[in-house]
Amino acid sequence: MTVYFNGSYQPKDAVRVSPDDRGFLLGDGVYEVARTYGGRLFAIDRHLERLRYSLGELRITGVAVDTLGQVFEELLRINGLMAGDALVYFQVTRGAARRAHGFPEPPVAPTTYGYAAPLALKFDHTKGVAAITVPDRRWARCDIKTISLVANCLANQEAQEAGAFEAILVRDGVALEGSHTNLFAVLGGEVWTAPLSNYILPGITRAILIGICRAAGMPVHERPIQVEEIRRADEVFLAGTTTEALGVVRLDGRPVGTGVPGPVTLRLRQLFLKETARR
Ligand SMILES: Cc1ncc(COP(=O)(O)O)c(C=O)c1O
Repeated sequence: MTVYFNGSYQPKDAVRVSPDDRGFLLGDGVYEVARTYGGRLFAIDRHLERLRYSLGELRITGVAVDTLGQVFEELLRINGLMAGDALVYFQVTRGAARRAHGFPEPPVAPTTYGYAAPLALKFDHTKGVAAITVPDRRWARCDIKTISLVANCLANQEAQEAGAFEAILVRDGVALEGSHTNLFAVLGGEVWTAPLSNYILPGITRAILIGICRAAGMPVHERPIQVEEIRRADEVFLAGTTTEALGVVRLDGRPVGTGVPGPVTLRLRQLFLKETARR
């Protein structure tokens, strides 16, 4: 695999990250994940805009975000991923400097790393997945796509150990999002998802699905969803770059709705796929 590291393309095995890197020592960095459909990057402008936001919120400077679209394309080309479906991962840390909590003074160059890989999905949209609810133990800036993901990892591991795909994170009785997906519910025939706040990641898939609902005349609400509401929802689904719209058919061991992916979920996924073909 050929990867991008600090401005050049090199074999993955040749990459050397400093042990002083603040990503390694402190989790001080941000990332993005985009994907291709048939070799073409999808919603890349939105992903780069979110990266710009995450970098800005952490005050990491020195990254030419405008040029990264070309880097992503080049990673796909060098690795022979111009056909089929692939993901592109890109991360930026504040750089390498003697360990201290405050920012390096004088500032150091950020560390940048990116790779492209074929998509390997562990679910089937026609069957849906199981999820569990867990307390949200993350920090209060979940709107930043930071590489500090340990709370997400612990939640997701708990889900896997329960035989589930995703952990739905609950804060003060409100079901916010998954460990690596946004959350939607269908209640009384209408689509609900948590409003944007510092407690959820502003998912690109979430935003596109909301737009699709509006364009199709399907009522959609950005409103807090109580955990009891997802238990009695007609449908629950997850939204993410690799998951698209993916039905949750079991929640905490009990069937959701009829126990199979529901009609709204399946319709939205079909409309979403049309959208991916258009761009
Ligand atoms: C916590 C969290 N929520 C939601 C999402 C979905 O975002 P997107 O649709 O942009 O992939 C992700 C994606 O990684 C995530 O980590």
